[in-house]
Amino acid sequence: MTLTTDMFKNEGAIEFENVASVIGSGYENDVAVLAIEDKIAYRAARKNMQIHSAIILKVMGVVSGFFTYQINHDAREFCLLQSTIRPEVFDFDLYKAMVQKIIENNTYGYPMFITTNPKSKFETPKLFESIGFTTYLEMSGYAYMVYGDMGDARLKYLAHITMCNVWNSISGKWLKVKREWNEKIEAAGAKHNIPNPKFASRDGCWQGTNGYSNVVLGSHEINEDGEVVHKVGKSFNGNASVLDPVACEVILRFFMPTDGSFVYNPFGGGVQMGFVTGDYGYKYISSEIRQNQCDANNAICQDLKGSAKWIKSDSSEYVPDERPDLVFTCPPYYKVEEYLDYDGNPPEGELNSFPTYQEFRDTLFKGYKKAIDALKDDSFFVVMTGDSRDKNGAYYCCESEHELFFRDNGLHVYNKIVYLECEFTRLAHAKKTLNYRKFPKREQKIIVAYKGDMSKIKDRFPTVGRL
Ligand SMILES: C[S@@+](CC[C@H](N)C(=O)[O-])C[C@H]1O[C@@H](n2cnc3c(N)ncnc32)[C@H](O)[C@@H]1O
Repeated sequence: MTLTTDMFKNEGAIEFENVASVIGSGYENDVAVLAIEDKIAYRAARKNMQIHSAIILKVMGVVSGFFTYQINHDAREFCLLQSTIRPEVFDFDLYKAMVQKIIENNTYGYPMFITTNPKSKFETPKLFESIGFTTYLEMSGYAYMVYGDMGDARLKYLAHITMCNVWNSISGKWLKVKREWNEKIEAAGAKHNIPNPKFASRDGCWQGTNGYSNVVLGSHEINEDGEVVHKVGKSFNGNASVLDPVACEVILRFFMPTDGSFVYNPFGGGVQMGFVTGDYGYKYISSEIRQNQCDANNAICQDLKGSAKWIKSDSSEYVPDERPDLVFTCPPYYKVEEYLDYDGNPPEGELNSFPTYQEFRDTLFKGYKKAIDALKDDSFFVVMTGDSRDKNGAYYCCESEHELFFRDNGLHVYNKIVYLECEFTRLAHAKKTLNYRKFPKREQKIIVAYKGDMSKIKDRFPTVGRL
């Protein structure tokens, strides 16, 4: 029987059948044939895709379309997968009706996800927007859409902007999130009269000769007396390293256990991890040796959903009052920055005031030991660190010593992530330093160590669901 579009206008011509799985439904071959003929939905011909549920469309009793979908109770999500309708009976309303059938089956209130294929003429963002889906990410022509709260798609968004062990902090999608966080931090700083909240109390602390933080724009001009004068312009980040709030959010979302609630940050420094953790409603305690940094950060974070507190203390001695579910730190990099308190001096015990790298390292690791002992079992200890060079130009190998320290203290070095930074100034420096065969550093390391039974990780941390 030749099917035509107007056929389905006849009452009863259209039938939608919901099957819990294509396999065992009797429609295995019909779906596979339609999938192969459609080309875009070809994966629905595979067994591993036919394990999923589907809406089967029949026109005049002839299988004329399908829409496979996955109900994932672990991730508490509905994922719309492959779909097609015979061209000869295709109609947008018919297609939308098939999507509506899937939505009706979502009696769990789960968020629903679809990734629209740019090659499909009907699986389009426009069509799904008309049904109530919203695009949370666009990548290489694909639109990643959610039917539900955008927050439900956040972990997937963060997964897509990281995915591997190189986190590209200058990608457009990364910078978009960074801007959002920095706007929030700036607003909180302005509200509570904290100037430069992103690097409060650390303006100009950069001691390095290369790197992003010592970029100060300047220009030469001729003044009315005909003399050439040098005008100092904008200084990037106030000559201080600034923790990336996006890296903080990724670390918090991926390494906080599902039932976790408390983050401890020894060698606290910048406001970013506390702000992000408190904004998510969790508890955050940081041990920071400088009163001015504590005061600034506590002021900035006083209105957050959760509590974020900086406690003036020496992290090599401090023990948090509760066992943390996650330890995060971005400690000083030896002699890269100078940390001064209200009196203009580094407090006693401030790591970068130690005359030798060995004293710096041993005190740092003493603080880590306290944090490891406090950390709950089956939990992560995440460090963002970077190496620095001694006065002769050789690296101290602090990054490697971190890995060995964790291994030798019974933790598992579980991820070694490269945090890729802007090459902006490094190119300028390379023109000088390459003569000394020094390749300027444009990355930092994020070492993810795990305390406990690694087989528990899958069930102890939120599932990302389908990506
Ligand atoms: C700002 S963060 C480091 C930022 C970034 N990692 C960098 O070096 O580019 C380091 C913080 O550790 C604090 N600090 C240094 N020694 C400390 C100690 N013994 N106990 C607690 N905090 C300490 C400093 O005051 C500083 O605010």
